[in-house]
Amino acid sequence: MNKGSSEYYISEIKRLKVEKNAIILAHYYQTGDIQDIADFVGDSLALSQKAASNNADIIIFAGVRFMAETAKILAPGKKVLLPDVNAGCSLADSCKAPDFEKFIKENPGRTIILYVNSTAEIKALSDIICTSSNAIQIVESLPPDAKIIFAPDRNLGNYVLNKTGRDMVIWNGTCHVHEEFSLEAILRLKNEYPDAKIIVHPECELPVRMVADYIGSTSALLQFTKNDKGNCYIVATEAGIIHQMKKGNPDKTYIPAPPGDSTCGCSECNFMKLITIEKIYNCLTSEKPEILVDQNVLLKAQKPIRRMMEISEKYDL
Ligand code: 13P
Ligand code: SF4
Repeated sequence: MNKGSSEYYISEIKRLKVEKNAIILAHYYQTGDIQDIADFVGDSLALSQKAASNNADIIIFAGVRFMAETAKILAPGKKVLLPDVNAGCSLADSCKAPDFEKFIKENPGRTIILYVNSTAEIKALSDIICTSSNAIQIVESLPPDAKIIFAPDRNLGNYVLNKTGRDMVIWNGTCHVHEEFSLEAILRLKNEYPDAKIIVHPECELPVRMVADYIGSTSALLQFTKNDKGNCYIVATEAGIIHQMKKGNPDKTYIPAPPGDSTCGCSECNFMKLITIEKIYNCLTSEKPEILVDQNVLLKAQKPIRRMMEISEKYDL
């Protein structure tokens, strides 16, 4: 086996994981090879639940920084490693602490529900965290007359607002991958494949959500393709999820929804795709880069995340 080949890295990763009592948690947007070597693959909610309950000493997070930070907040005694420190998130970056503090002051007396795609600093300012798997249930867990701030994703926020009719003011943040899907290109594909079902992540803009046959988090979209009787899907979320869809139902057809013309030109998250097998190997070897969260921020951010997990447990999510 050639040193430096992917077979070499994979066998070394397997050996080092046992030696160091480490686990790899991978998000569905990772490349197929990474999903296949991970100990656990899931959406943001499932990954948080797994980070909070495992016996490893080291968590390697094959995902982006806010996910690794959430793992550290939930498992402060463990070493949490992110194989590339530049694996950020445009949505989390769209909500900076000083601006958000000002927004809270301008909208006083509201319960702050924060989408998990946010920095630890912002989480520390919130009352309850949600993910795209449980956002509706989290909002509905509050009294019907509750006044809510929802941040940072305006598309998920508007989707939840339409579903619940609650009193919500919504932060104007977006994800650069999900806001770029082109309605025209999706409709052209639908014309070409009239039997295809359009399945959409709630981070997508309203025109794309309006043509959806089904809207849901990554795990909900995956479940839909498993249970549905159809055979062909136009998938409007990051294309990495198609790896698990193909594993579940290899005979079905999955077409990644294309982005618009004036875009980054792909339906891939450039931050998620910074993680590679080689970087996972390097990070397991050197135990760097480690994700650390300021102790004060960590303690404050624990409360809203735990509140989410309690509500999720109640609804069996
Ligand atoms: P999920 O929680 O649906 O996996 O979404 C995470 C994410 O980053 C979406 O862009
Ligand atoms: Fe962030 Fe968007 Fe990438 Fe998800 S797909 S990690 S929201 S930039």
